[in-house]
Amino acid sequence: QERSLKKPKSASSFFFFKTCNKKLSRICGNSQSVGSRGISTLRNFLQSRNKVYTEQVYVRPPPWSDSLPTIYAITPTYYRFVQKAELTRMSHTLLHVANLHWIVVEDSDRKSAMVSRLLEKTGLNYTHLNVHVAEKLNSKGSGQRNLALKWLRDNFSVNDSNAGVIYFADDDNTYSLELFDEMRYTKKVSVWPVGFVGAVRFESCKVNASGKVYAWDVKYAQGRPFAIDMAGFAVSLQLILSKPDVYFRLHGIPSGHQETKFLEDLITLNDLEPKADNCTEVLVWHTRAQAPPLYRGYGDPYIET
Ligand SMILES: *[C@@H]1O[C@H](CO)[C@@H](O)[C@H](O)[C@H]1NC(C)=O
Repeated sequence: QERSLKKPKSASSFFFFKTCNKKLSRICGNSQSVGSRGISTLRNFLQSRNKVYTEQVYVRPPPWSDSLPTIYAITPTYYRFVQKAELTRMSHTLLHVANLHWIVVEDSDRKSAMVSRLLEKTGLNYTHLNVHVAEKLNSKGSGQRNLALKWLRDNFSVNDSNAGVIYFADDDNTYSLELFDEMRYTKKVSVWPVGFVGAVRFESCKVNASGKVYAWDVKYAQGRPFAIDMAGFAVSLQLILSKPDVYFRLHGIPSGHQETKFLEDLITLNDLEPKADNCTEVLVWHTRAQAPPLYRGYGDPYIET
């Protein structure tokens, strides 16, 4: 794989300066606890613990190479107490991934200031959209995923050579970095196991001796033609562009059948490309953050959490 990275336009635009005070001295005032790499530069700032000094918060620009297909990570999100924490954690994972474009779609009538600010600060390539789906649907997030698919179809033409892959990456999962390498060269649809889903330790795809997916290793709704979780597959951009009418169906779909209906509209079982060592490695997990127990009314409502 090539690693001719695009130079960031201005290196300084990736530095943010923050003033440290005594309160924060545990975080930015004790050079002993800082990793060895940053010590010498930090020492210049940290001559005295009693002084007010400036700390560099370094947002690493994600590498970009003209020779790598782009990963379009589509993330529906909605307001709840752990939303900012989940999006923060996820953005830190994505910062390690080359050629990634994050499409974040809020389930709301307006783009929230919190999500807008968070995206602006990440240093990631992103598109911020919103659409409110008032109906209670079996598959939360599919109205938002559909808007992202529409955005891709509006912005790319099937006739261009758009090397790219689409991944429906919810904000409450944990993603290994290897996963993104696995999906990057997807021709049509690639698949892999997902951890902690369907009331089992993991769900997976069964691969035969000729390297083809022939069945699913699941406990939940085993009769589904594509018995796979949203986090367990990626679709090439070209396939999405070549089938412009395929969206997630919002109505008449039993719970847990959203993914299978979508894939049935796109491909056949024979088209699937098993990844993650022939579906034997778990590289993504459902790890949704637990809603915190809250003392109602406690705390300054203007402090964002
Ligand atoms: C997957 O299985 C097929 C068939 O056994 C084999 O040819 C192929 O090398 C395997 N791929 C990986 C990545 O192990």
